[in-house]
Amino acid sequence: MQTLTLTRPDDFHLHVRDGKVMESVIMASARQFARAIIMPNLTPPVVTVSQALDYRQRIMSCLPGDSSFNPLMTLYLTEETSVEEIQQARESGMVYAVKYYPAGATTNSENGVRSLQRVYPVLEALEEKKLLLLVHGEVTDPAVDIFDREQVFIETVLAPLLERFKGLRIVLEHISTRHAADFVMQGPETLAATITPQHMLLNRNALFVGGLRPHHYCLPILKAEEHRLAIVKAATSGHPRFFLGTDSAPHARARKESDCGCAGIYSAFNAIELYAGIFEQAGKLDRLEAFASHYGADFYGLPRNQETITLTREDWQIPATLPFVEDEIIPLGAGEVCHWILQ
Ligand code: NCD
Ligand code: ZN
Repeated sequence: MQTLTLTRPDDFHLHVRDGKVMESVIMASARQFARAIIMPNLTPPVVTVSQALDYRQRIMSCLPGDSSFNPLMTLYLTEETSVEEIQQARESGMVYAVKYYPAGATTNSENGVRSLQRVYPVLEALEEKKLLLLVHGEVTDPAVDIFDREQVFIETVLAPLLERFKGLRIVLEHISTRHAADFVMQGPETLAATITPQHMLLNRNALFVGGLRPHHYCLPILKAEEHRLAIVKAATSGHPRFFLGTDSAPHARARKESDCGCAGIYSAFNAIELYAGIFEQAGKLDRLEAFASHYGADFYGLPRNQETITLTREDWQIPATLPFVEDEIIPLGAGEVCHWILQ
């Protein structure tokens, strides 16, 4: 029997929602990860430090008393976000980053920023206070092809942003293209990227296997095989500015299987086991620990975790559906065989 012991990993991009949905998903993450960067795209979004601290409290109250899971909070950047809020975020010691959603880019992003120029004073405050800027890196111009939106974002928004804010740490979230992988690889020390399991496991054909497959729909949308390969290569390269962020984004089955289905893939159920399978498949299992447990913490300036987790090589079938409030949810890899199991 083959086992793999790793420093307990962190998830640097996670949606846990709120209320009953949160109750049904939070333990999946807490079982695997020590910490998670919690996305602020609730309805209404988490825009103030006081809302973030209340939200953190609600998360903590869903966890058993002996859980050491630590939710790292973020604020949702709007055109109204103030410099004082950033100051307070720093002082809170609980808010680590601000999330930039281009208005209309994805689920619950209507309150996002229309143009970054409008929030330059806030970005200056982030830079000064040493908080991170997390970006959903897709332009929203409907004239830009959906498969090109990340590349166009990099060229037209991210490159000038890095030029203007040389000390601001930026995470390009859930990268999905060769362009993003290359850009981060060659970029400054202040730029990193998170990588999801779905962007390494699937290419865009998975959206149409035998028919329309809504459970494979997420944003950024899955890309062609050459891009999937580039993302796997980046994640398994040992480059310290690529690290784990699941973007696990739970939506009830009925909300996905709809005439206008929600974007988001639920991977929290067995994320670390999926990443282990991907790294093994790439012949780079020895690089999993750094990607999952070291590089993210290092980039965020957090201590590495002390605890460990152990995975065992064992085949098991991922359930086709999981209970989810009054509905079901379809996990990533539903019905397929997973080769690693968390002890
Ligand atoms: C996310 C969600 O559902 O909140 N959906 C997704 O497809 N990734 C939003 C996001 O991170 O873009
Ligand atoms: Zn997300």
